Amino acid sequence: MRKIIIANWKMNLSITKSLEFVKKVKKTKHMVGIAAPYTFLCEMKKALAHKKIQLAAQDVARFAEGAYTGEVSAKMLKKLNCTYCLVGHSERRVYFAETDENVNEKIKQLLAQGIKPVLCIGEKASERNKKLTKKVLNKQLKKALQGVKNIDKVIIAYEPIWAISTFQKGKQKKSASLDDIMEVHKYIKNVLEKMSKSKGSKIKVLYGGSVKPSNSQEILSLKEVDGALVGGASLKVSSFNAILQSI
Ligand code: PGA
Repeated sequence: MRKIIIANWKMNLSITKSLEFVKKVKKTKHMVGIAAPYTFLCEMKKALAHKKIQLAAQDVARFAEGAYTGEVSAKMLKKLNCTYCLVGHSERRVYFAETDENVNEKIKQLLAQGIKPVLCIGEKASERNKKLTKKVLNKQLKKALQGVKNIDKVIIAYEPIWAISTFQKGKQKKSASLDDIMEVHKYIKNVLEKMSKSKGSKIKVLYGGSVKPSNSQEILSLKEVDGALVGGASLKVSSFNAILQSI
């Protein structure tokens, strides 16, 4: 099955390094996207013009246009040929106090411009320890997708916060177990089907959280997993290619 693999470069690399990276990405049958920092998007658009790699942004403004210093609108991202845009990444929720309500507004802005939102959801370690994972995810999904009409155009990325390398500083980076991933993805798909009977089953659910060449094959072979959002291991083209070629 064709999977969706999106690199999340976060605030890393440079324009020069990103263009070199693009030249070296290996061909694959899978859908590949790169979520680059805003300032790379213009050059990346040109570099990707003849490649089967989709451009993605890492965030978007929750407003359409106007006096919002420092913000970038969905319309601006559309002009740069962004196919996808991440929303609600846990780093934005934790470091920039982003709420489910903000995420909902951003999703609507993106859909109005025909950009596919990649809605990131996931529980903290403390919530997981209290067995609150499903409750947290349910709330995040319901609030972020409230009043969203083209729900089938949204992609979900399940990223347990405790498994993302950013939040594992100093510890050995570990991803969730295959059983955890399978169970949670099934649950998410179930919630989506209930929320939108006709369209819910079409929604793709990616996994993210320390996906790397040594575990990508087993994670991406799960039928419940429609792809991956890859952070740290997407910064070197050799490891990103190894992930693409592992499936
Ligand atoms: P990671 O990041 O692969 O470095 O854990 C994933 C993400 O934050 O999207």
